[in-house]
Parts: sequence; structure tokens; C-alpha cells
Amino acid sequence: MKRITTGKAITGLPEIWTLIKAVFKGDYAAGKNTRILPKLLSEYLGVKHTALCNSGSSANLLAMTALTSPNLKNHIKAGDEVITSICGFPTTLNPILQNNLVPVFVDIKLDTLNIDENQIESKITKKTKAIFIVHTLGNPCNMTKIMAICKKHKLWLIEDNCDALGSVYKEKKTGSFGHISTLSFYPAHHITTGEGGAVCTNDTELYNIIQSYCNWGRACVCPPNKDNLCGKRFSQKYGKLPFGYDHKSVVEHIGYNLKMPELCASIGVAQFKRLDKFVVKRVLNNSTLFGKLKHIKDLKLHGFEKDSIPSWFGFPMTLSNKNRRKQFVDYLESKGIATRPLFAGNFTKHPAYLSYSDKQDYPIADYVSENTLWIGCHPGIGKKEIDYIVKTIEEYFV
Ligand SMILES: Cc1ncc(COP(=O)(O)O)c(C=O)c1O
Repeated sequence: MKRITTGKAITGLPEIWTLIKAVFKGDYAAGKNTRILPKLLSEYLGVKHTALCNSGSSANLLAMTALTSPNLKNHIKAGDEVITSICGFPTTLNPILQNNLVPVFVDIKLDTLNIDENQIESKITKKTKAIFIVHTLGNPCNMTKIMAICKKHKLWLIEDNCDALGSVYKEKKTGSFGHISTLSFYPAHHITTGEGGAVCTNDTELYNIIQSYCNWGRACVCPPNKDNLCGKRFSQKYGKLPFGYDHKSVVEHIGYNLKMPELCASIGVAQFKRLDKFVVKRVLNNSTLFGKLKHIKDLKLHGFEKDSIPSWFGFPMTLSNKNRRKQFVDYLESKGIATRPLFAGNFTKHPAYLSYSDKQDYPIADYVSENTLWIGCHPGIGKKEIDYIVKTIEEYFV
């Protein structure tokens, strides 16, 4: 049996073909595909705007940074608090710190591995300005309660949807609930562009700010190869610049260059055509594994919110017999089944975040950090691999 990885990009002639066409056209930076892919993603998620970027981490950085833009009424300022999960992927947390904001952690729920929505309100203070949630491993958060909290306390909401492309909550795609949401197209994810990501929003002002931060911080929002769409390129006054300074070169934000190149977008457009099939396969693999492993008493399998359909990124399991994870992981790895912990687990245990520990207890995050792991459920996993995974796990627990 070939090693069963946690993620796998499935590509072929369509990806090679769109990539070669882009190369032949000489479109390396921006082109047809950097225009098409955002439209396809916006339509798929049911949002107005999508801005492409070069990774899911960059997408999270852009999402958080956009909310600090001085252009925005009610923007977030240094020292303001952002509520987020104690447990997850580092680059959900990092943009909060990189923007000099204060993360306020909330424990997760053992069943769904998502932020415990029932603990959020107790963490809200006068300084709370936003909630940054993650649909962990593709499993949608309880959006009914989270949206109600955001509305009641007038908070910004960012959804890290990097693991959850195609997930549905109450007939709406995740990534379409928050003011901003993000996607990752790293090869392990639902579709790939090599490296890549996207930021989605229904708010045109936010979209323009996101584009500005992504494009060196410039003020002009004309797409590449287009000029003067506003008709005022050389006829306005900005800051203390001379009147008529070229709007394309006016700097409005302390920005970055996080753009997705056309070559990556060309792969993404071909991948997008496969997305529906990929999602079905992920859902099917996950439910088959669940059905065949649920009889094992020592293994807790994870649930999902009512009325949600997770587009699973991985298949999570938690050992109910404490402290046996290392042994189980060693066993699975020795049998060629790749495993991962729940990303960073409790962030504040890591060298990088020790100083951010708030001395509060996060019992579920700690439990999960010790006892939870996940394996792949990607479309490259077929019946043969599923049978092998089930047999291998069953043999361990007999
Ligand atoms: C929840 C979550 N957010 C963000 C990221 C970062 O995405 P990228 O690897 O594209 O930077 C990942 C990566 O897997 C992730 O799982």
C-alpha cells in the first residue's frame, strides 16, 4: 500500500493545459485567469467580491489588516481585542499579533473542535472589536449563535474558511457569513493553485481596502492592465502631494505585495472545474470512515452542527484513553498512514506564544493537544485505502 497522505493535489492535463496557455500568452503576473478565478469563487460562495492572494496565511493577514484601515469608519486600532479560538493554525492568530491587536482566547468544543460559541460573550469587553473564527478541518462553526453575538455587540467577523471550501451551514456556504472570509489553495486543500489564497467579502469598501493592502498599499483600485477607470487619474489632490499626482502611484496604506501570479490562477481555474467532485469525495470518505470506525469505544469520532454539511479537510479522531496518542500515531505512521495533530493545539504552549498566555485554563484545548489527531480524507483516497485504514485501526484496538 502506498503511503496515505493527509492531503494530495489531484491535477492532470487540464491544469497543464491552462498553465501552458498562460505561459504562451506571456501572462506571468496578471491575466485572464486572475480575472476569472475570483468570479468563479465569488459565485460559488455567494459573495460579491473575491481578491486573490498568494496563500491562506496572506489571506488571513489581509483580512485582519483591512479592518485596521484608517479609511474604515469603526476601524480596529492597536490595543483593541480580537476574540479567537485558543486552538488551531498559527496564521489565524498571527495577523492579530502582527497588527498589534490583543488576542482574547476562547476554548473549543470537543465534539466539533470549533470555538465554543457559548463562551464567547463572557470574553467580550469594551475593547472587543472583532471575532476571528475558524471552521476547523472544514467543520462549520455554529454560525447562528456567532452571527447573533456579532450583531448584538456590533463586532466585525472574519471567517478563516481555509479548510472549508464547499462546507454548508443552513444552506449557505461557509465563507459567506462574515464581513470577510479567507481561503487557502495550498496543495493539501480542497483545490490548489500551488501556493495561493483568497479573501472574500460582500462589502465593496472592504474589498478595495483588501486590494490596496495586497497591491503595495496603493490607492488606485484599477485592475492590472487597466488605467483611469475613475476618470480622475491625474486630476486630484492626495495628502501633501502636488495636484494631479498619478493616482496609480499614490500610497494609501502600509501595504504588501501578496498577489497571486497568473500561472497559479491558471491552475486554479482548471481545479475549480473539479471542485464539486472533490467535495463529494471528501464528504463520502469521511462518512465511510465514520461509519466503519464508530464501533471502536476507545476512539472518539467528531460531530458537526445541526443543519451543516462539512466539506471535510481531514478525518479527526480523539483517543479516549489519555496519553496514548504517541503510541497510536507511531503505529499509524509505521503502517503508512500519515497523521497530524490538530495543528498547533493550544497556541500558548508554543515557544512563540508563551508570552501571550493569559494564565486561564483551556481544558478542552489541552485535552485535544494531547489526544486528538487527524488523517486524510482527500479525493486521492479510494475504497482500497479506506478499507486498509479501517482494518489497520481496528487491529490496533483489538
Ligand atoms: C485553518 C487554516 N488557516 C490558514 C492556513 C494557512 O494557509 P496557507 O498554508 O495557504 O498559508 C491553513 C493551512 O493549512 C489552515 O489550515
